[in-house]
Amino acid sequence: MIEVDRLGRTFKVRGTVTHAVQDLSFGVEAGEFVGYLGPNGAGKSTTIKMLTGILAPTSGRLRVAGLDPSRRRTALARKIGVVFGQRTTLWWDLPLKDSFELIRLLYKVDRGAFRRRLDELCALLDIGDFLATPVRQLSLGQRMRGDITAALLHDPPILVLDEPTIGLDVVSKAGVRDFLRRLNAENGTTILLTTHDLGDVERLCRRVMLIDHGRLAFDGTVADLRAIVPGEASIEEAVTHLYLSSRRSPRTPPPRPAQDPPSVTA
Ligand SMILES: Nc1ncnc2c1ncn2[C@@H]1O[C@H](COP(=O)(O)OP(=O)(O)OP(=O)(O)O)[C@@H](O)[C@H]1O
Ligand SMILES: [Mg+2]
Repeated sequence: MIEVDRLGRTFKVRGTVTHAVQDLSFGVEAGEFVGYLGPNGAGKSTTIKMLTGILAPTSGRLRVAGLDPSRRRTALARKIGVVFGQRTTLWWDLPLKDSFELIRLLYKVDRGAFRRRLDELCALLDIGDFLATPVRQLSLGQRMRGDITAALLHDPPILVLDEPTIGLDVVSKAGVRDFLRRLNAENGTTILLTTHDLGDVERLCRRVMLIDHGRLAFDGTVADLRAIVPGEASIEEAVTHLYLSSRRSPRTPPPRPAQDPPSVTA
């Protein structure tokens, strides 16, 4: 579903070059639910922008649903839904339902199919009560559920989320998590989730990829991740260990997990 091969992206600002993503390779199969972790500035959002065609890579190759994202952005839009927790893709002054209607027109979704899909998402995400409210008047949790609905109205096989639970209260967070779990399990939607909330990872993701300084530092199951630290380590302890060890020596690879991980790369 997603193939990334030696991907790189640099930014040059006033003569200073930042290697936001470097030599990154991984694959994601259809139906996987993958957590994409890393410390602040690790390159997670930059990767997501390349996967969705917002940014072009400076090196390497990637395919999402068989398409080169930056060259086939329109074709890819039909196959992928994206949620950026930090900013909305909805129209600020329009009622939520009008934003959805605009999205229907943009994606040329048939009116009947759209109605069914919207009814389904309304029930699952509990947004029926504020469909007529302008987006700017919504609370963060309401807006986030609106954004997730908007990303899924055209029923894409892939969903990419960049910090969708940021700032949500425990009940809203549980609702979003429950929805994502069902979307993956029942609909078979392939999900890539970036989050700093390790509770999201623990409850949702079978596989975790961790990047640091733009490079893949870990790729394996949650159990593999825990096994990085001796004893009965929590996921927090394992992630802290990886973040700190790369901070001490950012150019060397982090330690390998105890035994036989799917893959750990430098
Ligand atoms: N448009 C840009 N211009 C210049 N530098 C950028 C740009 N976007 C990102 N960067 C730099 O690239 C690096 C990776 O940024 P990115 O936003 O991908 O990190 P992140 O892993 O999403 O971090 P966070 O957890 O804080 O969201 C950072 O050093 C950042 O300053
Ligand atoms: Mg980010």
